[in-house]
Amino acid sequence: MTDYDFFTLDDVETSNKRVFLRVDINVPLDPSTHLILDDTRIRGIAETLAKLDDAKVVLGSHQSRPGKDDFTSLEPHARVLAQYCSQDVKFVDDVIGPHARQRIGKVQAGQVLVLDNLRFCAEENLDDRPEKLVKTHFVRRLSPLFDLNVNDAFATAHRSQPSIVGLTEVLPSAAGRLMQKELKAVSILLEEPRRPCVYVLGGAKVEDKIPVIEHILERDKADKILLGGVPAKLFLKAMEKKTSSEDEKETAGLQEYVERAKSLVRKHRDKIEVPVDLAYEEKGEKRLDRNVDSTPAKESALDIGAKTIEKYSKFVESAATSVANGPLGVFERNGFDLGTKMVLESMSRGNGYSVIGGGHLVGLASILGIDERFTHVSTAGGAMLSLLSGQSLPGVDALVRAAARMRNSNSGK
Ligand code: 3PG
Ligand code: MG
Repeated sequence: MTDYDFFTLDDVETSNKRVFLRVDINVPLDPSTHLILDDTRIRGIAETLAKLDDAKVVLGSHQSRPGKDDFTSLEPHARVLAQYCSQDVKFVDDVIGPHARQRIGKVQAGQVLVLDNLRFCAEENLDDRPEKLVKTHFVRRLSPLFDLNVNDAFATAHRSQPSIVGLTEVLPSAAGRLMQKELKAVSILLEEPRRPCVYVLGGAKVEDKIPVIEHILERDKADKILLGGVPAKLFLKAMEKKTSSEDEKETAGLQEYVERAKSLVRKHRDKIEVPVDLAYEEKGEKRLDRNVDSTPAKESALDIGAKTIEKYSKFVESAATSVANGPLGVFERNGFDLGTKMVLESMSRGNGYSVIGGGHLVGLASILGIDERFTHVSTAGGAMLSLLSGQSLPGVDALVRAAARMRNSNSGK
C-alpha cells in the first residue's frame, strides 16, 4: 500500500487548539434557488469533525468558481453541516478581513466557525508554487491565528492554492480522516487491485481520462476499460469506426487525444471496450438505438445503446474490482440516463471492491439509493483522476513536507 508520510489526527494534539480545517464542501446547487442538491461532501467530513470536538475549529471551503452560477456564499452549507456534527456551528460572511479575524479569535473549544467561500478572496483562485503561496495575504493574515492546520479536502488536493498548500507550508499540519480514507481507496487500485479489474470511464472530458487509461494499462492494473460519453466517441474515431456528423464535430478539436487513443488501441486492443450501439434522439422518437457498424445518424449520440448496456453490465457485475468515473451519456436528458443508471446498478450488485467518483455519478447513486452498496464513494472527481493517472497531489505533497518540518523541529529541541 502507498503509505503517505504525513501526520494524521492521531499524531497531533487538538484539544483546545485553534485549528484551521480545510474541507471541500463544494456541492451541487439548484441554479436558481441555490438549495443544496446533494450533501455527500458535507457528510464526508463528519468523522473529522467528531475527532475535533474539543478543538476551536475554523472551517474553510470553496464553492464553485468566480463567474459560475453556483459561485455563492457558504451560509447554506453551514446550516446543513450543523446536522452532521455535535459542535455549535457559526458562520461569518467574510474570509480574511478584520471581521473574520475578530470572529476567529473568539471561537471556543467545541465550536465550529464556517468562513465564507474562500474563493471570494481573489488569491485563492490562483494555482501557484508553494514559495509564492506563502507570501499571499491569505496566508499572512490567517496563519498567525492558528496552532494547527488540518487538510481534509481530498477533492481539492490537486490544486496548489493558498488554503491547500500555502497554510500547510507555514503551520503544523495533518491530514483529516476523509483525506486518509480517500487516499487509501485509490492506493488499493494503484497497487494490487483484485482481478479482474474493470474501469468505466465516461463524461464530457477526455483530457483527464486518457492519462488515466495510459497509466493504468501501462502498469497492468486493469483488465477492461469500458468507455462511454465523449471518451467513447474519441476511441470510436481512433478505431476508424463511423460516427455521426455531430459526433465528428465534437471530437474534431481533439486530434492530440485521438493519436494517444490510437496508440493505446495498438498496444491494448483486447482491454479497451467501445460501445457496440449508441442511443440517439431521432425524428421525434424519444430514444433510438443504432448499431455502431450501421449507417451513422446525423445527431449527437446521447447514451450507450441497450446491447452495450448489457455487455458493460456483465463486466462490472462479475468484476473483482470496479471503478467508475463520469456518466456514460447525457444523463440530464430524459431517457438518456439509462446507460449510466443500469451500469451503476450492476456495479453495485457485484461482490467486488467498487469505487465511484465524480459529482455526477455520486449524485446519481445517492438519488437511486444505491450509494451504500459501493465499497468507496469518492467525494472527488479531478483529484482522484490525477492520482489514477500517476500524478502526485500538491495538497498531499505539502502535508508530507509539513511532517518532515515538524519532525525536524521536534528533534532540534
Ligand atoms: C471539484 O469539485 O472539482 C473540486 O471542488 C475542485 O474545484 P475546482 O475544479 O473548481 O478547482
Ligand atoms: Mg473540478
